[in-house]
Amino acid sequence: MSATGCTLGIIGAPGFEREAEILSALLAIPLGEADATLYVEATWWLQLRQGDETLKLSADFAHGQLDWRRKHSSGKAEPVVKAVWGRANTPPSVFDATGGLARDSFLLAASGCQVQAMEQHPLIAALIDKALQDAALSDDPALQSVLQHLHYGHGNSAEFLPLQSPGFVDVIYLDPMFPPRPSAAKVKKDMQVLQALTETGLGDELLPLARAKAGQKVIVKRPSYAPPLANSKPSAQLPAGLNRFDIYPTQR
Ligand SMILES: C[S@@+](CC[C@H](N)C(=O)[O-])C[C@H]1O[C@@H](n2cnc3c(N)ncnc32)[C@H](O)[C@@H]1O
Repeated sequence: MSATGCTLGIIGAPGFEREAEILSALLAIPLGEADATLYVEATWWLQLRQGDETLKLSADFAHGQLDWRRKHSSGKAEPVVKAVWGRANTPPSVFDATGGLARDSFLLAASGCQVQAMEQHPLIAALIDKALQDAALSDDPALQSVLQHLHYGHGNSAEFLPLQSPGFVDVIYLDPMFPPRPSAAKVKKDMQVLQALTETGLGDELLPLARAKAGQKVIVKRPSYAPPLANSKPSAQLPAGLNRFDIYPTQR
């Protein structure tokens, strides 16, 4: 069961039963359908049952929107890249402590940063890890190079960070889930899946841990209406449409 009370399951399509069994044993998640089910087949996908609604989540780093953004966004056009790079002339190394669907990590890796990303939810982490492995089979050398800059894994950053030496990376990036405004239009379907599977409003504990371990700074992505993480005033802010990036100096 996930932190939000959602039951978790794994199903192997015909021909993929063994792969599903191994994953089930590895993650200690039962085989069979649940509120959130990871379907193991040629391309993996996650299904979420919410009342009468069924939401599907898949990830693809070699095609679609992310691929387009990788090819077409020049320099620091992506706001997350602009926030993380700041005035740096060489690519900063980054720890993305709230990896999620690895979109921000992917864009940062595409800008040349060496990125290590960590995601606490086992099914999200498994889905994204497989999508990254699938993308690595692409014969596009530019995509291969991006993927060599991105290391994504399953784990809890609140447990990982205290074990790291100060300065183990230049920048620590945080994008914890924040509850949507009750009046807001429904968020996109993939974000609905993330919201159902992971607790919102958490992440306060990550800020002091990140500030103690980042070599240069901590960047926090927030919805523009949200208070700063841990109610801690940032030293600078970078507005970015419906979001903003709060910038914190290190604090040891
Ligand atoms: C809003 S999503 C991040 C989206 C991500 N920036 C992207 O581009 O796809 C927040 C994610 O952080 C993860 N998370 C929250 N606290 C975490 C922690 N302590 N360690 C690892 N992951 C965490 C949640 O499970 C969720 O998937």
